[in-house]
Amino acid sequence: MKTVVIGAGTMGSGIAQIAASHGSGVVLVDQHEEVLKRSKDKLEKILSRLIEKGRIDENTKREIQGNIEYQTNMDGISDADLVIEAIVENLEIKQHLFREVESKVNENCIIASNTSSLSITSLAAVLSSPERCIGLHFFNPAPLMKLVEIIPALHTSNDIVSQSIAIIESWGKLAVSVKDTPGFIVNRVARPFYSESLRIYEEGICDKEGIDWAMKHVANFRMGPFELMDFIGHDVNYAVTESMYNSYHQEPRYKPSFTQQRLVEAGWLGRKSGKGFYNYTDGDLTSNKPDEQLAETVAHRVVLMLINEAADAAYYRIASIQDIDLAMTKGVNYPKGLLQWADDMGLEKVVHGLDSLFDHYHEERYRCSPLLRNMLKEGKSFYA
Ligand code: NAI
Repeated sequence: MKTVVIGAGTMGSGIAQIAASHGSGVVLVDQHEEVLKRSKDKLEKILSRLIEKGRIDENTKREIQGNIEYQTNMDGISDADLVIEAIVENLEIKQHLFREVESKVNENCIIASNTSSLSITSLAAVLSSPERCIGLHFFNPAPLMKLVEIIPALHTSNDIVSQSIAIIESWGKLAVSVKDTPGFIVNRVARPFYSESLRIYEEGICDKEGIDWAMKHVANFRMGPFELMDFIGHDVNYAVTESMYNSYHQEPRYKPSFTQQRLVEAGWLGRKSGKGFYNYTDGDLTSNKPDEQLAETVAHRVVLMLINEAADAAYYRIASIQDIDLAMTKGVNYPKGLLQWADDMGLEKVVHGLDSLFDHYHEERYRCSPLLRNMLKEGKSFYA
């Protein structure tokens, strides 16, 4: 098999490593020579570390490295089976690249994008054979994260979908299928983790240390939302929220927060700039255990909003119930699938909790998904 990866930044380098580690020949293309050199050096370090840990031997390292060719052009890709682009997140630039790629590959080659926010259909539409186009959305760091979202464009043929799933699974990944909608599964369903926590903080119900504590110790998430936003970077996290808000035609649930906007304006982007919600220049993060009752309330409210978002994704058939839960547990390490969580909590409690928030605020943001209400009426559960 021959895979071409275009863009040798964070994602492209990771995807090239995965393909090469599973025996595929890889051509890794970037417009900048120095980016390719950096990518090659980084792979050398990663593989040496894997040897130290006893995960691979010298031979395997050499094999993986030998599988990758580094190029600043797209010469010699006419026999490629799969091209995955991971270049800058810009529709016109990606469309331009797709046209160029199509002129260089044979008619059986799959042309895929790793975009996190653009419509796959709008990329497919520029191809002469749009049925060969698909979204393959990896997560960062790609070699470590199990999940890949598989996103067919309106044009994509079933055969290309099955071939893509087979390739992704042969690379040891877990494929979930999702409709071509903004944020796909993970970036959509995860929004309330940040937005509802910011809202609770902005209302002064609980401080950020307390919310982080509640989400880790009551709801069992690996990181608190404020720590996680600092880790992701407020520029990136804010841009995703804003793009979701606009792509969903100003859906109130995705409304960006002024608190986060100000952090971006201040250049307090989180860990990478030494300061965000927390200060990273003077040692450990402060941890603050809130009153037990308050911690329960905070964790319950954020989890309710996450469940509601997951239920709405299922209601609009963006993905199957199982795939929505798998995406959140394998893609972003949630402690439990959200729809499983709804079953465990009991749908009556979920619907009642959301209705109480709506009664209190009278805001669209807190409307309960019709799916939850229908299921409660019919006495159903997600995994009965
Ligand atoms: P990056 O900025 O690290 O890398 C992009 C690379 O593409 C750069 O090295 C640049 O020189 C190269 N490039 C740009 N235009 C090119 C062209 N026409 N031909 C060849 N090379 C070109 O970006 P990153 O973070 O790797 O993201 C790439 C894509 O993956 C974006 O679409 C992004 O939305 C998506 N993505 C990013 C994730 C992340 O966590 N960083 C997660 C999942 C998807």
